[in-house]
Amino acid sequence: MKKYALILAAGKGTRMKTELPKCAFPILGKPMIEYIVENLEKSQIDEIVTVVGHKKEVITDLLKERSTYAIQEEQLGTGHATLQAASLLEDKEGVTFILPGDMPLMEYPLMDKIIRSHEEMGNDLTIVSMMFDNPKGYGRVVRDEYGVVTSIVEEIDCNDAQKQIKEVNSSVYVVNNQALFQTLKKVKKNDRKGEYYLTDIVELMHQTHKVNTFTVRDPRVTMGINDLYNISIAEKILRDHINKSHMLNGVSIINPETVTIGHDVIIEEGVWIYPNSTIVGDSIIKKYAKIGPNSEVRDSIIDEYAEIRHSLVIDSKVGKYTTVGPFAHLRGHTDIGEHNRIGNFVEVKNSTTGKDTKAAHLSYIGDAIVGNRVNFGCGSITVNYDGVNKHKTNIGDDVFIGCNVNMVAPLTVSDEVFIAAGSTVTKDIPKGSLSIARNQQINKEDYYKHLIKPKNDK
Ligand code: UD1
Ligand code: CA
Repeated sequence: MKKYALILAAGKGTRMKTELPKCAFPILGKPMIEYIVENLEKSQIDEIVTVVGHKKEVITDLLKERSTYAIQEEQLGTGHATLQAASLLEDKEGVTFILPGDMPLMEYPLMDKIIRSHEEMGNDLTIVSMMFDNPKGYGRVVRDEYGVVTSIVEEIDCNDAQKQIKEVNSSVYVVNNQALFQTLKKVKKNDRKGEYYLTDIVELMHQTHKVNTFTVRDPRVTMGINDLYNISIAEKILRDHINKSHMLNGVSIINPETVTIGHDVIIEEGVWIYPNSTIVGDSIIKKYAKIGPNSEVRDSIIDEYAEIRHSLVIDSKVGKYTTVGPFAHLRGHTDIGEHNRIGNFVEVKNSTTGKDTKAAHLSYIGDAIVGNRVNFGCGSITVNYDGVNKHKTNIGDDVFIGCNVNMVAPLTVSDEVFIAAGSTVTKDIPKGSLSIARNQQINKEDYYKHLIKPKNDK
């Protein structure tokens, strides 16, 4: 039997009070809905359908061909949203695993377990429920005196007794396709909210079909995200989970509550991560590297034994044994070689360096190809931008760049060159040269007194 997943992601997410549609909102740097799709792809689901509506392009741009789409033009509730997939699913033999796009923490082994339980019990409808001491905001699972589920009642429609029910609807269901769409067509608009509730299928099905619950043990994985406070809670849960798994794999994390590691980051054993650090995107941290304190690494590769302290590394690579920081910024496809030192207040953009190169203080290196054993003196920079275009600087091996040198690009500095401090270099420098490009110093002896009158001069 084929298994379909139906993600409901058309809602406005009014309670979020943000521009971005809720299901696209990031959790640890990754859109919520991507977590769901990734897990579905790993599960036994054969095909994913997503219901989109409010700002639908944002969602379809994120998921592209990973899903097919049903469109809900007007947001008339979860029942109405599900019905929009009828043309795609109602004629198909099989089950549909319905889940909301605002529930990013459920992982595929649990998804598979829920689907398996639906099949093994021979259910027509399985409602995934959870127990909450404080069930506020969730639909309550109402049972009769024999414990049979008879309906789900939304918070605003609950009477006082129903409000006390601690078993709530997670908004995840497994339903046999035909039963689902036949029943959905009978769902009436809820007067109070003016919406068609998906939850109303429970009351319509319980006498004619086999309706059961699957209760998840850890309600944290089925929490729904409705506002920015929920986002922070989900991030905390996910952060703890991710950090713990790295620690169990041999990564030392100091003060882990202050360390954020994205879902897709790879960290090898023996790495140390110090407080207030963020490592996100497609980053890889190799053995024995040290990150932090106070550093951000995004979409970057940090090689073995490298150290990043109080610094920002974006879209870049840092070679073995290289130290970065404090207060350095690498970005724009920078590739720093082995045994380099990129020190205090140094920015490197779209540049590569060879081995044993150093820029220890106050440099800007942009659009440059730099060789081995190059020393950037304090304050030396590449002048890569003329106000219109960016130009390249090529620097060979064994080059010594004095303090406060401006290298005006396009420029080639060959091997074994020494550039005198304070030079503004505009012409290529041949191999083996000493280059001086500054005015000669003049010392006018005995001249001070013409400029500054001594204070005790009467
Ligand atoms: C829903 C359930 C509630 C459950 C809770 C669990 C209903 C009526 N209520 O309430 O029983 O306890 O989830 O988190 O189903 N959506 C659409 N189109 C719409 C409306 C919503 O696609 O017209 C999507 C949203 O994008 C969202 C999901 O459906 O991803 C759930 O909608 P939401 O408004 O968050 O439902 P809840 O009020 O949380
Ligand atoms: Ca919700």
